[in-house]
Amino acid sequence: MLIDTYGRIATDLRVSLTDRCNLRCTYCMPEEGLQWLAKPELLTDDEIVRLVRIAVTDLGVTEVRFTGGEPLLRPGLVGIVEHCAALEPRPTLSLTTNGIGMARTAVALRNAGLDRVNVSLDTLRPDVFQTLTRRKRHADVLEGLHAAREAGLTPVKINSVLMHGINDDEAPELLSWALGHTYELRFIEQMPLDAQHGWRRENMVTAEEILEKLSARFALTAEEPSERGSAPAERWLVDGGPATVGVIASVTRPFCRACDRTRLTADGQVRNCLFTREESDLRTPLRSGAPDAEIAELWRAAMWGKKAGSGLDDPLFLQPQRPMSAIGG
Ligand code: 5AD
Ligand code: SF4
Repeated sequence: MLIDTYGRIATDLRVSLTDRCNLRCTYCMPEEGLQWLAKPELLTDDEIVRLVRIAVTDLGVTEVRFTGGEPLLRPGLVGIVEHCAALEPRPTLSLTTNGIGMARTAVALRNAGLDRVNVSLDTLRPDVFQTLTRRKRHADVLEGLHAAREAGLTPVKINSVLMHGINDDEAPELLSWALGHTYELRFIEQMPLDAQHGWRRENMVTAEEILEKLSARFALTAEEPSERGSAPAERWLVDGGPATVGVIASVTRPFCRACDRTRLTADGQVRNCLFTREESDLRTPLRSGAPDAEIAELWRAAMWGKKAGSGLDDPLFLQPQRPMSAIGG
């Protein structure tokens, strides 16, 4: 098991498959992109599958989520999914993507064993999309969402980040649109994980504000807390349900006490928290021939040291060196 000193058990593994992306969301990356990891630094497909196997068979991981950067940019993605789906016990497999390219690969991913997808979409307006992501790809994302649903990668969830003066007026419209398309919408508070270190708490659209905006158009009833488990999203029934809307209040209502995550970067480092500044290297032992048991032990040790919380409220909080795109959401 991956247990820490606070008794939390990590069963949910997030694997970043690449730090590259074809968008440049302002809350994530600068216009010019970043210094990408070099090919030899990246885990190979086989190395990823081996680490996932160790996590699933030796360490009690039951859910595996592939993230990026943009994971659809990884050429071997379908094969990786296929191998992970063949593991015993079979983990739940999901993908967090910006949706671009999904229209082409949704069916192959489904056939390989992918269960679900989360697609990032912050706006319904193509011009706002372009301002926000610095790319003209809005239609591709909508197509990708549609393809994912048609391929049965359901429930298709949408992640939206709101920003003042850019898309914060769109909350009810996004919800109404998502409901109409049977997508499950979740708003995420903007976190200090941008490469530019431009995040300011006072600029962030808070969960409270989001709920207020939604309540102008919808009747929201909080779901029973028992339904939440370790899920970061607090959910509300919309107009009596069964449809729901989620809010992930990572900053104003952190859920660290129930956290069940462990993370692996594209270059083979374990992170026990999104916000940690410490990582544990698995790639070096992996490449120098360490047996499974030794790698499992290093992974356990990495999780054992997990801190109680993100430290966001600490005046001495320092952003992690890696931005979101190199950690995986
Ligand atoms: N704060 C909140 N969410 C973010 N994402 C990326 N950067 C941030 C940030 N700074 C979101 C993306 C995507 C998921 C991986 O995380 O929009 O949905
Ligand atoms: Fe790419 Fe996601 Fe970062 Fe946007 S938030 S630039 S889609 S990695």
